[in-house]
Amino acid sequence: MKILFVTPELAPWSKAGGLGDATAALGKALAAQGHEVRAVTPLYGSVPGREGMGTLIEALKVDVGGDPRKAACRIRTLTVSPGFEAWFVEHEDFYGSREVYPVREDAGERAAFYGRAALDACLTTSWIPDVVHCHDWTAGLVPVLLNTKLQTSALGRCASVITIHNLQHQGLYPRRIMAYLGLPEFLWNPLELECLGGLNFLKGGILHAHRVITVSPTYAQEILTPAFGYGLDDIVRRRERDLVGILNGVDRDEWNPEEDKHIARSFSSKMPAGKADCKAALLRELNLATDRNLPVFGVVSRLWDQKGLDLAVQVLPKFLREGRLQFVLLGSGDAALENEFRRLATDFPELCAVRIGYDNGLSHRIEAGSDFFLMPSRFEPCGLNQMYSMAYGTLPVVRATGGLADTVRPWDGKKAGTGITFEHADTTGIDWALQRALDLYQQPNAYKVVQKTAMETVFSWSKSAIAHLACYKSALDR
Ligand code: ADP
Ligand code: GLC
Repeated sequence: MKILFVTPELAPWSKAGGLGDATAALGKALAAQGHEVRAVTPLYGSVPGREGMGTLIEALKVDVGGDPRKAACRIRTLTVSPGFEAWFVEHEDFYGSREVYPVREDAGERAAFYGRAALDACLTTSWIPDVVHCHDWTAGLVPVLLNTKLQTSALGRCASVITIHNLQHQGLYPRRIMAYLGLPEFLWNPLELECLGGLNFLKGGILHAHRVITVSPTYAQEILTPAFGYGLDDIVRRRERDLVGILNGVDRDEWNPEEDKHIARSFSSKMPAGKADCKAALLRELNLATDRNLPVFGVVSRLWDQKGLDLAVQVLPKFLREGRLQFVLLGSGDAALENEFRRLATDFPELCAVRIGYDNGLSHRIEAGSDFFLMPSRFEPCGLNQMYSMAYGTLPVVRATGGLADTVRPWDGKKAGTGITFEHADTTGIDWALQRALDLYQQPNAYKVVQKTAMETVFSWSKSAIAHLACYKSALDR
């Protein structure tokens, strides 16, 4: 099959969260099974290595309205893996800054542009995909274009699929985007793209794609309800028959404690000894006390209401005051929450370290050096870090929601399970879960068995690719 991804993130070239990891790993897994994959994505100012890229199209005229001088871009290209090419949309004005999702007046045009450029690049090169696979809101208008303006073009027979990686972010922009993309006026009504007086990108994608995917079976159920639907649950329910939850996986090229260049010593489930060195090295790196023999709880996360860390920061002082655990956090996001965590580190300098910012190497060392990994998410479409944690023998402590519920098997109080799960997104729930994790840590034999089970649990992208292919085929039949 020929598969076109339209995605705002593609790791390692761009990544704001797990979406970048997911598109890169899924593309590689599909290509490894013999399919031809192209991923169209913006060339942000932060993308490294543009000198080494080839040029696929020197000057692509993109079919958008507005200032004609702003309607052209260059398409750069590189090979990600055999069969998998990235096509970068180079447009200085739209994507020259470093951020993936900047706040700016023309953010709607900026998102719409690269989606339309993806389709124009296919038409110009005559590389016509069987399936166009759109990722999250920025690509949401691509299925709408295929069903309307491009219906009679060479792309009109493509199947389209959209993955909802996170329903909270929908892309609500002014009505003028309709004219910018040349979308027919009948789409401007509340049963179509209109939403709260604006144009909702993700709503368009959900309504117009032949199939709708989300990143775990539990989240696929949750988004049918008002509690998780962010106002679009009625739209998702309209597509219930075409909705499928497919779990993400772990890219073992990136996340494998046996061959991780970022960590102090390699280890595996059969030879776990190196993990203790990783823990000692992490504590030294973060200037924490190394002589306490306490469990280390790690966090690597966006600091955003989704992640429930505003609740954790209220519960942790008690445990730190009582000297029962050490805590390390790497993250950034909400400024007030960043400050609360900074204060926690100041209050408990030997037991708690907080690094505000983005640091890939440190994220690997936290996965390798911690005993537990805390993810108290209010909702979590899939979540990758709990799976990376299990691969590194770091037991996840998670709220039982979305992909967390689908990937972490709760410790049964004896020796079965792969982590700790709790039900309620509140401070009592987190308090209970931390206490339960400490109970497990007090039982070294049980802890070791659970750790080994976690390390040997496989979360495979090739399995995910097979499920995606089945979905693509059903979209094509449609
Ligand atoms: P989400 O996509 O909602 O942020 P995921 O668990 O799916 O959550 O993926 C998050 C990804 O981003 C992981 O690969 C994680 O390691 C990475 N990440 C998040 N914050 C940071 C950070 N501050 N530094 C390095 N990596 C980070
Ligand atoms: C989103 C979700 C996260 C998921 C990731 C990749 O960012 O918040 O749960 O793992 O996308 O699909």
